[in-house]
Amino acid sequence: MSQPPTLSATEITSRRLVLRRAVHATDRDALVELSTDPEVRAYLGGPRPLGEVEQHVDAVVAAGVTSWPGSYLIADNITNDVLGTLMLARRPADSPGHVTEDGGELELGYVLRRGAWGAGFAGEAATAALRAAAGELPDQPVLLVTQSANTRSLKLAARLGFRPVGTFEEFGAEQTLCTAALSTFGDGGGTTSIRTKSPVSRAALSGLP
Ligand SMILES: CC(C)(COP(=O)(O)OP(=O)(O)OC[C@H]1O[C@@H](n2cnc3c(N)ncnc32)[C@H](O)[C@@H]1OP(=O)(O)O)[C@@H](O)C(=O)NCCC(=O)NCCS
Repeated sequence: MSQPPTLSATEITSRRLVLRRAVHATDRDALVELSTDPEVRAYLGGPRPLGEVEQHVDAVVAAGVTSWPGSYLIADNITNDVLGTLMLARRPADSPGHVTEDGGELELGYVLRRGAWGAGFAGEAATAALRAAAGELPDQPVLLVTQSANTRSLKLAARLGFRPVGTFEEFGAEQTLCTAALSTFGDGGGTTSIRTKSPVSRAALSGLP
Protein backbone atom coordinates (compact mmCIF):
# COMPACT_ATOMS: atom_id res chain seq x y z
CA MET A 1 0.00 0.00 0.00
CA SER A 2 1.39 3.43 -0.83
CA GLN A 3 2.02 5.77 2.09
CA PRO A 4 -0.02 8.95 2.45
CA PRO A 5 2.13 11.71 0.96
CA THR A 6 1.57 14.13 3.82
CA LEU A 7 -0.63 14.68 6.85
CA SER A 8 -4.18 13.39 6.45
CA ALA A 9 -5.58 15.12 9.56
CA THR A 10 -8.24 17.73 8.93
CA GLU A 11 -7.84 19.19 12.40
CA ILE A 12 -5.06 19.11 14.98
CA THR A 13 -5.56 20.65 18.40
CA SER A 14 -2.74 21.71 20.70
CA ARG A 15 -2.68 23.53 24.03
CA ARG A 16 -3.63 26.98 22.67
CA LEU A 17 -4.23 26.33 18.98
CA VAL A 18 -6.25 24.48 16.42
CA LEU A 19 -4.74 23.69 13.03
CA ARG A 20 -7.65 23.31 10.66
CA ARG A 21 -8.15 22.71 6.96
CA ALA A 22 -11.66 24.15 7.12
CA VAL A 23 -11.87 27.81 6.02
CA HIS A 24 -14.71 30.11 7.11
CA ALA A 25 -15.91 33.44 5.74
CA THR A 26 -14.77 35.07 8.99
CA ASP A 27 -11.15 34.04 8.16
CA ARG A 28 -11.07 36.26 5.08
CA ASP A 29 -9.52 39.44 6.52
CA ALA A 30 -6.80 37.57 8.37
CA LEU A 31 -5.86 35.63 5.22
CA VAL A 32 -5.73 38.79 3.13
CA GLU A 33 -3.56 40.46 5.78
CA LEU A 34 -1.10 37.52 5.82
CA SER A 35 -0.34 37.91 2.13
CA THR A 36 -0.28 41.71 1.97
CA ASP A 37 1.54 42.75 5.19
CA PRO A 38 5.01 44.01 4.16
CA GLU A 39 6.60 42.92 7.46
CA VAL A 40 5.19 39.39 7.29
CA ARG A 41 6.23 39.10 3.63
CA ALA A 42 9.69 40.66 4.10
CA TYR A 43 11.52 37.37 3.40
CA LEU A 44 8.80 35.87 1.21
CA GLY A 45 9.18 38.05 -1.87
CA GLY A 46 7.32 41.09 -0.48
CA PRO A 47 3.60 41.77 -0.19
CA ARG A 48 1.41 40.35 -2.93
CA PRO A 49 -0.98 42.61 -4.87
CA LEU A 50 -4.22 43.14 -2.92
CA GLY A 51 -6.61 42.40 -5.80
CA GLU A 52 -4.85 39.12 -6.62
CA VAL A 53 -4.82 38.09 -2.96
CA GLU A 54 -8.51 38.90 -2.46
CA GLN A 55 -9.44 36.86 -5.52
CA HIS A 56 -7.47 33.86 -4.28
CA VAL A 57 -8.75 34.14 -0.70
CA ASP A 58 -12.35 34.45 -1.89
CA ALA A 59 -11.94 31.25 -3.91
CA VAL A 60 -10.51 29.41 -0.91
CA VAL A 61 -13.30 30.69 1.36
CA ALA A 62 -15.87 29.58 -1.22
CA ALA A 63 -14.27 26.11 -1.34
CA GLY A 64 -14.40 25.97 2.47
CA VAL A 65 -11.04 24.23 2.75
CA THR A 66 -7.37 25.11 2.38
CA SER A 67 -5.95 24.73 -1.11
CA TRP A 68 -3.64 21.74 -0.67
CA PRO A 69 -3.29 18.66 1.52
CA GLY A 70 -0.87 19.46 4.31
CA SER A 71 -1.88 23.14 4.47
CA TYR A 72 -3.62 24.43 7.59
CA LEU A 73 -4.90 27.61 9.13
CA ILE A 74 -3.46 28.17 12.59
CA ALA A 75 -6.24 29.48 14.83
CA ASP A 76 -6.76 30.25 18.50
CA ASN A 77 -8.55 27.17 19.85
CA ILE A 78 -10.91 29.28 21.96
CA THR A 79 -11.79 32.25 19.74
CA ASN A 80 -11.10 30.43 16.44
CA ASP A 81 -9.37 33.63 15.18
CA VAL A 82 -6.77 32.94 12.50
CA LEU A 83 -3.20 33.61 13.63
CA GLY A 84 -1.36 32.24 10.61
CA THR A 85 -0.88 29.33 8.26
CA LEU A 86 1.29 26.21 8.26
CA MET A 87 2.19 23.86 5.46
CA LEU A 88 3.70 20.39 5.52
CA ALA A 89 3.86 19.50 1.84
CA ARG A 90 6.27 17.92 -0.63
CA ARG A 91 9.13 20.09 -1.92
CA PRO A 92 8.99 19.77 -5.71
CA ALA A 93 11.91 17.76 -7.10
CA ASP A 94 12.66 20.51 -9.63
CA SER A 95 13.16 23.15 -6.90
CA PRO A 96 16.69 23.56 -5.55
CA GLY A 97 17.46 22.39 -1.99
CA HIS A 98 17.13 18.69 -1.27
CA VAL A 99 18.70 16.07 0.98
CA THR A 100 17.64 12.99 -1.01
CA GLU A 101 18.46 11.92 -4.59
CA ASP A 102 14.86 12.01 -5.78
CA GLY A 103 13.66 15.12 -3.92
CA GLY A 104 10.00 15.45 -3.00
CA GLU A 105 10.78 15.46 0.73
CA LEU A 106 8.28 16.78 3.26
CA GLU A 107 8.84 20.51 3.76
CA LEU A 108 7.60 22.62 6.66
CA GLY A 109 6.55 26.24 6.18
CA TYR A 110 4.84 28.72 8.51
CA VAL A 111 3.56 32.27 8.43
CA LEU A 112 2.10 34.14 11.41
CA ARG A 113 0.26 37.47 11.44
CA ARG A 114 2.55 40.18 12.79
CA GLY A 115 0.43 40.54 15.92
CA ALA A 116 0.95 36.84 16.75
CA TRP A 117 4.78 36.84 16.73
CA GLY A 118 6.71 36.43 19.97
CA ALA A 119 4.22 34.17 21.77
CA GLY A 120 5.48 30.73 20.74
CA PHE A 121 2.52 30.05 18.44
CA ALA A 122 4.59 29.03 15.40
CA GLY A 123 6.63 26.63 17.52
CA GLU A 124 3.51 25.12 19.06
CA ALA A 125 1.80 24.74 15.67
CA ALA A 126 4.87 23.20 14.02
CA THR A 127 5.41 20.78 16.89
CA ALA A 128 1.77 19.65 16.73
CA ALA A 129 1.85 19.14 12.95
CA LEU A 130 5.18 17.29 12.98
CA ARG A 131 4.05 15.10 15.87
CA ALA A 132 0.88 14.20 13.97
CA ALA A 133 2.91 13.47 10.83
CA ALA A 134 5.35 11.28 12.78
CA GLY A 135 2.35 9.33 14.02
CA GLU A 136 1.13 8.41 10.55
CA LEU A 137 4.09 8.52 8.16
CA PRO A 138 7.29 6.46 8.05
CA ASP A 139 10.49 8.10 9.21
CA GLN A 140 11.91 10.41 6.56
CA PRO A 141 13.78 13.70 6.35
CA VAL A 142 11.74 16.89 6.75
CA LEU A 143 13.06 20.07 5.14
CA LEU A 144 12.77 23.66 6.23
CA VAL A 145 13.96 26.31 3.78
CA THR A 146 14.20 29.92 4.84
CA GLN A 147 16.05 33.01 3.68
CA SER A 148 19.40 33.18 5.49
CA ALA A 149 18.50 36.76 6.51
CA ASN A 150 15.30 35.57 8.23
CA THR A 151 16.72 35.27 11.72
CA ARG A 152 13.34 34.73 13.44
CA SER A 153 12.61 31.77 11.21
CA LEU A 154 16.11 30.33 11.67
CA LYS A 155 15.76 30.64 15.46
CA LEU A 156 12.46 28.81 15.30
CA ALA A 157 13.98 26.10 13.09
CA ALA A 158 16.78 25.57 15.61
CA ARG A 159 14.33 25.44 18.53
CA LEU A 160 12.35 22.78 16.70
CA GLY A 161 15.50 20.70 16.23
CA PHE A 162 16.22 21.36 12.55
CA ARG A 163 19.88 21.67 11.67
CA PRO A 164 21.29 23.73 8.78
CA VAL A 165 22.93 21.59 6.10
CA GLY A 166 23.67 24.11 3.36
CA THR A 167 22.72 27.23 1.45
CA PHE A 168 21.58 27.91 -2.10
CA GLU A 169 20.16 30.76 -4.18
CA GLU A 170 16.44 30.94 -4.95
CA PHE A 171 14.15 33.91 -5.66
CA GLY A 172 17.22 36.18 -5.81
CA ALA A 173 18.23 35.53 -2.19
CA GLU A 174 20.39 33.11 -0.22
CA GLN A 175 18.30 30.36 1.34
CA THR A 176 19.35 28.11 4.22
CA LEU A 177 18.37 24.47 3.92
CA CYS A 178 17.63 22.80 7.27
CA THR A 179 16.55 19.25 7.96
CA ALA A 180 15.38 16.97 10.77
CA ALA A 181 14.25 13.35 10.90
CA LEU A 182 10.47 13.06 11.17
CA SER A 183 10.77 10.36 13.84
CA THR A 184 12.34 12.84 16.26
CA PHE A 185 8.94 14.52 16.56
CA GLY A 186 7.13 11.29 17.43
CA ASP A 187 5.61 10.22 20.73
CA GLY A 188 2.15 11.76 20.19
CA GLY A 189 0.25 12.01 23.41
CA GLY A 190 0.78 15.25 25.26
CA THR A 191 -1.81 17.90 24.51
CA THR A 192 -2.18 17.22 20.79
CA SER A 193 -5.41 15.75 19.46
CA ILE A 194 -5.94 14.84 15.82
CA ARG A 195 -9.11 14.55 13.79
CA THR A 196 -9.02 12.86 10.40
CA LYS A 197 -12.67 12.70 9.44
CA SER A 198 -13.14 15.42 6.84
CA PRO A 199 -15.63 18.15 7.73
CA VAL A 200 -15.78 19.14 4.05
CA SER A 201 -17.11 17.27 1.06
CA ARG A 202 -14.96 15.69 -1.64
CA ALA A 203 -16.75 17.94 -4.12
CA ALA A 204 -15.45 20.99 -2.27
CA LEU A 205 -11.92 19.56 -2.36
CA SER A 206 -12.01 18.93 -6.07
CA GLY A 207 -13.11 22.51 -6.72
CA LEU A 208 -9.99 24.02 -5.16
CA PRO A 209 -8.03 26.68 -7.01
C1 LIG B 1 9.00 32.99 11.39
C2 LIG B 1 7.88 33.29 12.39
C3 LIG B 1 6.77 32.29 12.22
C4 LIG B 1 8.47 33.19 13.81
O1 LIG B 1 7.49 33.58 14.74
P1 LIG B 1 7.87 33.63 16.30
O2 LIG B 1 6.68 34.10 17.03
O3 LIG B 1 9.14 34.38 16.45
O4 LIG B 1 8.20 32.11 16.60
P2 LIG B 1 7.81 31.18 17.83
O5 LIG B 1 6.43 30.73 17.71
O6 LIG B 1 8.88 30.15 17.89
O7 LIG B 1 7.89 32.14 19.09
C5 LIG B 1 9.12 32.32 19.74
C6 LIG B 1 9.09 33.63 20.48
O8 LIG B 1 7.94 33.66 21.34
C7 LIG B 1 8.41 33.85 22.71
N1 LIG B 1 7.42 33.18 23.57
C8 LIG B 1 6.52 33.83 24.35
N2 LIG B 1 5.70 32.94 24.95
C9 LIG B 1 6.09 31.71 24.54
C10 LIG B 1 5.63 30.39 24.82
N3 LIG B 1 4.59 30.16 25.63
N4 LIG B 1 6.26 29.35 24.23
C11 LIG B 1 7.31 29.56 23.42
N5 LIG B 1 7.80 30.79 23.11
C12 LIG B 1 7.18 31.85 23.67
C13 LIG B 1 9.81 33.31 22.71
O9 LIG B 1 10.56 33.85 23.77
C14 LIG B 1 10.31 33.80 21.36
O10 LIG B 1 10.55 35.17 21.41
P3 LIG B 1 11.95 35.78 20.88
O11 LIG B 1 12.16 35.30 19.49
O12 LIG B 1 11.76 37.24 20.99
O13 LIG B 1 12.98 35.19 21.78
C15 LIG B 1 7.31 34.73 12.19
O14 LIG B 1 8.34 35.65 12.38
C16 LIG B 1 6.70 34.93 10.82
O15 LIG B 1 5.56 34.58 10.57
N6 LIG B 1 7.47 35.54 9.87
C17 LIG B 1 6.94 35.83 8.56
C18 LIG B 1 6.79 34.59 7.71
C19 LIG B 1 8.11 33.88 7.46
O16 LIG B 1 9.12 34.53 7.22
N7 LIG B 1 8.07 32.55 7.49
C20 LIG B 1 9.24 31.74 7.27
C21 LIG B 1 9.12 31.01 6.00
S1 LIG B 1 9.42 29.26 6.24
